[in-house]
Amino acid sequence: MKTTISKVPKYAGKEVTIGAWLANKRSSGKIAFLQLRDGTGFIQGVVAKNDVTDEVFQLAKNMTQESSMYITGTIAEDSRSPFGYEMHVSDIKLIQDAVDYPITPKEHGTEFLMDHRHLWLRSSRQHAVMKIRNEIIRATYQFFNDHDYVKIDPPILTGSSAEGTTELFHTKYFDEDAYLSQSGQLYMEAAAMAFGKVFSFGPTFRAEKSKTRRHLIEFWMIEPEMAFVDHEDSLEIQEQYVSFVVQSVLENCKLELQTLGRDTSKLEAVQAPFPRISYDDAMELVMEKGFDDIEWGEDFGAPHETAIAESFEKPVFITNYPADIKAFYMKPDPERPEVVLCADLIAPEGYGEIIGGSQRIDDLKLMEQRYEEHGLTGPAYKWYLELRQYGSVPHSGFGLGLERTVAWIAGVEHVRETIPFPRLLNRLYP
Ligand code: 4AD
Ligand code: MG
Repeated sequence: MKTTISKVPKYAGKEVTIGAWLANKRSSGKIAFLQLRDGTGFIQGVVAKNDVTDEVFQLAKNMTQESSMYITGTIAEDSRSPFGYEMHVSDIKLIQDAVDYPITPKEHGTEFLMDHRHLWLRSSRQHAVMKIRNEIIRATYQFFNDHDYVKIDPPILTGSSAEGTTELFHTKYFDEDAYLSQSGQLYMEAAAMAFGKVFSFGPTFRAEKSKTRRHLIEFWMIEPEMAFVDHEDSLEIQEQYVSFVVQSVLENCKLELQTLGRDTSKLEAVQAPFPRISYDDAMELVMEKGFDDIEWGEDFGAPHETAIAESFEKPVFITNYPADIKAFYMKPDPERPEVVLCADLIAPEGYGEIIGGSQRIDDLKLMEQRYEEHGLTGPAYKWYLELRQYGSVPHSGFGLGLERTVAWIAGVEHVRETIPFPRLLNRLYP
């Protein structure tokens, strides 16, 4: 019976065949232990000299890392392995002998591993991170589908900028100028006026000259947008969504979290509601903690965000930032127009901002004024104004950065390990 490692628990006591690669190996005299992987999981194959032909035993003893094979054996429960099962091997059919696989079980430097990302992805640690990424995506679709959102796909090639012009990737669109999308938001606002509650999931691009552990040039964003939802309602949706995602990973990725050595007690505490702190109070908190490199009106940097997050066990919303440091479309607080109805959600444990969101300006006159102030002219922005002209309603939305969320939940230091093929300031290969 041909099967996969993930399905092995169904076959305890039975003989199965698995297509697999050799991840690692140890052998002594009459026995060889093969660490096998097939993409769905990892299992140990035990090859005993007395159970197989001489030829197969020699093959097992001499097999090199990443050689591919069909391997047959009986599945047995094994309480010592984290997976709970091992295979007592009866036969091996080699597919390809891998020679000099560059990534050995010894330590390698980061640049070396990044240069071999196409192979590094096979390691158990990278496998665990990508499975957690996959679970976050799965839980995202489940959450928004369960709450009657419609998935809408905004364009990647655009004529306008959503988050400011300095970080745009420019390209030619036949005779016109075009840019790679920094955010689908403006299009999602149009979609919310057509479908009520919508969400997108897609790649976004920022030519940021930032070389930090939180910045990618190409990253994936989940962007919900909701009609008839104000700033406060939106914060509730965000905390429900993030809690759901974290609890789903805890439930469905136990082995992966264990592989990564993640302290799950910190994740268990991530249940709605989340604390909220105003920008003003956050600024005071930062100053109390001894920072003197920042003043009211400036944006928090990574060290400030970490210091703020340290005061809370759960993710924390920093609300009502000064209008001057936020995007043109954010709605001013009616009580205090110098700040806007927005929030950044800061993850615990120093992982930084994972969500940026706001209530949007719905007043045509005010939006026209913002266009003037920000020099948003030309036909590329005309359609967005029209959303405020024909049945404008209060609406809010947010964007969750997938890679930063994976980094936090998986407990991975740098976002470069949270996307299969990272695009970084100095890296377009592989
Ligand atoms: O805060 P940002 O810039 O918000 C927006 O783009 C809004 N238009 C979203 C919306 O309201 N629909 O980006 C949202 C999130 C950030 O909180 C962060 O998690 C992530 O995207 N992000 C990045 N992740 C990796 N690398 C980068 N260079 C990132 N820039 C933003
Ligand atoms: Mg932001």
